[in-house]
Amino acid sequence: MLIAIDGPAASGKGTIARRLAAHFGLPHLDTGLLYRATARALLDQGSKLDDVENAVSAARGLALLDFEEDRLRGREMGEAASVVAAIPEVRAALIDMQRAFASRPQGAVLDGRDIGTVIAPKADVKIFVTASPEARAQRRALELRGRGEKVDYPAILDDIRKRDTRDSERADAPLRPADDAKILDTTDLNIEAAFAAALEIVDRAEAAT
Ligand code: CDP
Repeated sequence: MLIAIDGPAASGKGTIARRLAAHFGLPHLDTGLLYRATARALLDQGSKLDDVENAVSAARGLALLDFEEDRLRGREMGEAASVVAAIPEVRAALIDMQRAFASRPQGAVLDGRDIGTVIAPKADVKIFVTASPEARAQRRALELRGRGEKVDYPAILDDIRKRDTRDSERADAPLRPADDAKILDTTDLNIEAAFAAALEIVDRAEAAT
């Protein structure tokens, strides 16, 4: 079974994807990490984020060691990731790897922004996870506080709004639900309730095939 989870920043898609993967015993790819690692590599080499040539070679040269999560999760890295993610050549450089992961014979769970629309348009189940910007900013604030970062709620809300705009308005693979995606609004749901709702969507989709 191939499950595609998309949605905006801090909507809960990563947690839902991880939990579904554990539940069904499927491998999971958080595709945001590919863009975060590309941005990190560029910043580490002192390159500008919008330098297309450097960005493409950073994306092509990603190696396992670049996925050390602690260096990729900070507040500014999500922002940097969304800048490199708007470069079509960077997206193209990362497509094959994601499609190969999605075509594993046992199935997979992938989460990101364009899984249901571009990476795996034939996925068995597509879920678009969303929540109000305020609820997402609150979650991100909690997450960052847990990582020991100083938290400024208005700045986080501002980041989320800016990122929503950049991700939805870019020309290549913009953030949007696939026509056949089920929308899961987690604004008023805790993690357990959101996971239960996602599981119900998957179970229904399976029963229908
Ligand atoms: O956890 P959060 O949603 O904040 O971030 P993420 O999923 O790690 O994604 C970081 C950024 O990478 C997003 O704002 C997108 O611009 C970009 N991204 C993308 O364009 N396509 C994907 N499949 C995944 C992430």
